[in-house]
Amino acid sequence: MTQRRVVVAIDGPAGAGKSTIARRLAERLGFTYIDTGAMYRAVALWALRQNVDPTDMHRMEQLALAAEIELQPGRIRLNGEDVTEAIRSPEVSSGASKIAVIAGVRRRMVDKQRSIGERASVVMEGRDIGTVVFPDADVKIFLDAQPPERVRRRLLEVRAKGEQVAESTLALEMEERDRRDSTRRDAPLAQAPDAIYLDSTALSIDEVEEAVLKIVRQRVTNGKEFH
Ligand code: DC
Repeated sequence: MTQRRVVVAIDGPAGAGKSTIARRLAERLGFTYIDTGAMYRAVALWALRQNVDPTDMHRMEQLALAAEIELQPGRIRLNGEDVTEAIRSPEVSSGASKIAVIAGVRRRMVDKQRSIGERASVVMEGRDIGTVVFPDADVKIFLDAQPPERVRRRLLEVRAKGEQVAESTLALEMEERDRRDSTRRDAPLAQAPDAIYLDSTALSIDEVEEAVLKIVRQRVTNGKEFH
């Protein structure tokens, strides 16, 4: 049984399986699951609704500061409203990536993420968790998959919700977003030097979960079970 607070950081590009794995892992370990992308998405949704230009640094920073974001298991609230489904639209995906280049926006989100991680053991997923938010995280995983497989997974997700989108459109959107996320000046998507790289292209969800769990056990409990 671990008594101390543990941080597991999972970073990687869109569609690599971060959310699925982080959620399952948190459940297995009894940790809090934090989807940091959902926080950027919530601010982007607010900007869209308020007609605020996502490249307007000053106004976006104000919105990020004023946004009341609450993370509950499996749900996210923005200023008291449940926006769990609303933040998953393609417009919000692209908007989130655009506002995420603004240093002032990132500062607000990172402050919030650190304060959550200081209170509880967490599995936190995003783009900069192992590099910036928790550079001292106990476990760092960089979860990747080859682009065609990442597009395929996203396509399945979108279609499962009953939405229609052309594969080529989705592929372009993801490529553009990954390029923006990886090339921005402030906290770009990058593998931390001490992160373990895991390519999930040819693995099932169960296989990835087992691989990650094994890494966590080796790093945190010397191979022993958590419970
Ligand atoms: O993980 P996601 O696809 O829901 O994230 C949406 C966008 O938010 C992503 O394109 C970039 C940004 N983001 C970020 O800059 N840093 C994070 N830690 C998480 C997400």
